Amino acid sequence: MTMTNPLGAIPKRVEVYEVGPRDGLQNELRTLATADKARLIEALVGSGLKRIEVSSFVSPRWIPQLADAEKLIGLVPRREGVVFTALVPNLKGLERARAAGLQEAAVFLSVTESHSQKNINKSVADAISTAREVANGARAAGMRVRCYLSTVWGCPYEGITPVARVVEVVKQLADIGFYQLSLGDTIGVGTPSQTAEIVGEVSKVVGLGQIALHLHDTRGTALANALVGLSMGVTTFDASIGGLGGCPYAPGAAGNLATEDLVFMLQGMGVETGIDLGKLVEAGELAQELIGRKLSGKYLQAALGEREKMANRARK
Ligand code: HMG
Ligand code: MG
Repeated sequence: MTMTNPLGAIPKRVEVYEVGPRDGLQNELRTLATADKARLIEALVGSGLKRIEVSSFVSPRWIPQLADAEKLIGLVPRREGVVFTALVPNLKGLERARAAGLQEAAVFLSVTESHSQKNINKSVADAISTAREVANGARAAGMRVRCYLSTVWGCPYEGITPVARVVEVVKQLADIGFYQLSLGDTIGVGTPSQTAEIVGEVSKVVGLGQIALHLHDTRGTALANALVGLSMGVTTFDASIGGLGGCPYAPGAAGNLATEDLVFMLQGMGVETGIDLGKLVEAGELAQELIGRKLSGKYLQAALGEREKMANRARK
């Protein structure tokens, strides 16, 4: 009997872009102490993650949990080969990121008007011109920029987003010079067939290599959507330790795809990530302790449960 691989040609290597310290901590009621955020980032670096979004240079009035971005970046030692990045909404944010010593930043905009207004108080058209300004400023400063697109699958205010709308926005971003476009399922409403359509249509405008997927797991479909992206050739996935995450200006947005769940799946499929799953679990355990609640990541909970069972057995 011949076996055909229903998944197509799976990439050999995938880059995991960790957003826990930013997307995760922006949505927590409890603001962590700067030193604790630094410990978490150190633990993430220790697991082998090479790209980490450590904070945001947005207005501290809008996201008070991340108001200590400069201080935090000053606290975490740099490691060869590890890139720290941060979210910036405008030139002021970019300048803060540059002054803090970052060589990379991420700008963000929504493809739907209502979320754009709620999140950054701007129309989509104004957000695109700001993103262009940020990209130009970054180029002049020798920095590189990725661009997030939010509400690509659906919007908390406007429902399911038509793919044609996503393509319209991507066309306006295509010549700006972002090294990557991260497509966001902000409120976790995406399904696999929708993901296939989005990745298929967007990759007709920009190369597959330029696309990252940023999947929130609100309804349990993030990993399935990631698998669809992977099978189509996407090689960068955003994920968050323990499944932390959510946008405070997108009601109902819950955690991102958990980094450990993604890495477990990739490793099992023979896809290289350079990440040590055991160390990732330690980082997830630390995140859980610091935040003070059980996190939603499934692999994390399974690993911690297993460890407890073994410890109980050893005690008997
Ligand atoms: P605004 O109030 O409309 O704008 O905010 P403004 O330009 O008039 O500025 C108001 C004040 O903020 C001024 O200070 C500015 O100087 C200051 P004042 O004169 O009143 O003292 N300000 C800043 N301060 C520090 N850093 C800055 C900065 N910019 C202005 N960079 C603004 C507009 C965009 C600033 C605001 O709406 C904002 O910061 N929004 C951020 C919202 C946010 O961070 N949301 C969550 C991240 S997005 C997300 O999670 C989605 C994502 O994960 C992908 C996905 O899941 O889809 C990325
Ligand atoms: Mg997000």
